[in-house]
Amino acid sequence: MHERFRYRTKEDLIKKARSLGIELPYSDDISPLLLPALVEGFPIPNRLVVQPMEGYDSEDNGSPSFLTKRRYLRYANGGSGMIWYEAVSVSSDGRSNPNQLWINRNNISEYAYLNEEVKIAAGKIGIRPLLVIQLTHSGRYSKPEGISKPQVAAFNLTLDKIAPYILTDDDLKRIQDQYVTAAALAANSGFDAIDLKACHGYLMIELLAAKTRKGSIYGGEDPSARFRFMLETIERIKAETPGMIITTRLNISDCYSGGFGVDNNNQPDFSEPLLLVEQLQKKGIRLLNLSMGSPYFNAFVTRPFDTPLPGQSVPDEHPLVGVVKMINGTSFFQKKFPELDFIGSAYSYLRHYSPNVGAAVIKNRSASFIGLGRSSFAYPSLPLDLIRDGKADPSKVCITCSGCTRLIRNLHPGGCVIRDREIYGNELKKLIADGK
Ligand SMILES: Cc1cc2nc3c(=O)[nH]c(=O)nc-3n(C[C@H](O)[C@H](O)[C@H](O)COP(=O)(O)O)c2cc1C
Ligand code: SF4
Repeated sequence: MHERFRYRTKEDLIKKARSLGIELPYSDDISPLLLPALVEGFPIPNRLVVQPMEGYDSEDNGSPSFLTKRRYLRYANGGSGMIWYEAVSVSSDGRSNPNQLWINRNNISEYAYLNEEVKIAAGKIGIRPLLVIQLTHSGRYSKPEGISKPQVAAFNLTLDKIAPYILTDDDLKRIQDQYVTAAALAANSGFDAIDLKACHGYLMIELLAAKTRKGSIYGGEDPSARFRFMLETIERIKAETPGMIITTRLNISDCYSGGFGVDNNNQPDFSEPLLLVEQLQKKGIRLLNLSMGSPYFNAFVTRPFDTPLPGQSVPDEHPLVGVVKMINGTSFFQKKFPELDFIGSAYSYLRHYSPNVGAAVIKNRSASFIGLGRSSFAYPSLPLDLIRDGKADPSKVCITCSGCTRLIRNLHPGGCVIRDREIYGNELKKLIADGK
């Protein structure tokens, strides 16, 4: 049964987890989070990662706006070891909204400028974070002009109410070219790593699961055909943009029917994701950022929360069950592939205990890095507080109220309505005044 966060002490939290039949790792010593690491020769100053968090606030031409820059400078000042930039579209028609970042030939200087500023700001606190760009095509969730224009990889009985437009193999080849071009542009604008986003229902994860895609080199029952698009894209980027770290934010289970990594009861089945990670390892991938679920279908899986979006029902699943599902899923992969580095997700529900749980996860080698999503919107300086004070400030944490998601779902710029109130509290007021 779902419950809101109301744990006054760590004992309350651990006891609650036990009463649910799950074990929440916990360490009073947070020092494992502050250990440096090396990823493909790149020194990472600590184990905390800003997860990709879309702000729906680019300029019309896809460049970072004032608000985008503000967000990344807050991260840079906050001390994280990696800053994983939000979803950046590889094309105008694959944008999830008219203000999704979109890297193209006409705006790379804007990205280069932003990255330079980020490096300077982080340098002032003695940090050089790894800068990762998340390249995406929104596939069935494309909304380039604010209204839905789905570009679907494969029919899905659960998601499709009417027969959608299914991308042809030629369409996919054109989109692959766009990924390769975007990767080269990213390399020229100061990013260190390229993430091929394969999670949360967008195009690349849909292709990995595209069993109903018939007569195509990119789909069908055979997993190697379904993995082809992603693996080919990696090969081409490696050939055309050598020297960049390539990674992926990968859903290890969509947890819905017809999705990737699910059994007949829509529960995680990691057999195909394991096969894929083996293939990725063979292609030289060393860093993976894992997630689960879809924000459009089972948001409580992707981001366990206190409060759902208005109009949405409270899930049956207890948020701690969701948190532990993600920890255990990531741990499963980390243990199977000890020579790779995995980043875990979905810690924000844990509020000021997230560093203690994250530290235990690192100590147990159940992940190499701890990703923070909503927490980074609310409390970007958490890593610096841990470095300087050894603890998190409970008055600054995310309370998983879904306010930021509510903003972006209504095509408003996204940020924390609670802890960054001057800007985003006001955005929420405008949205409510408009009756949304
Ligand atoms: C407003 C919002 C925007 C997000 N944008 C992205 C994104 O651009 N790319 C991505 O992979 N995940 C995105 N996510 C998912 C987060 O990265 C993260 O996986 C999720 O919030 C769970 O982690 P948390 O508990 O630390 O928030 C977004 C989530 C929210 C709430
Ligand atoms: S609005 Fe702020 S407190 Fe609410 S979920 Fe988003 S980041 Fe967390």
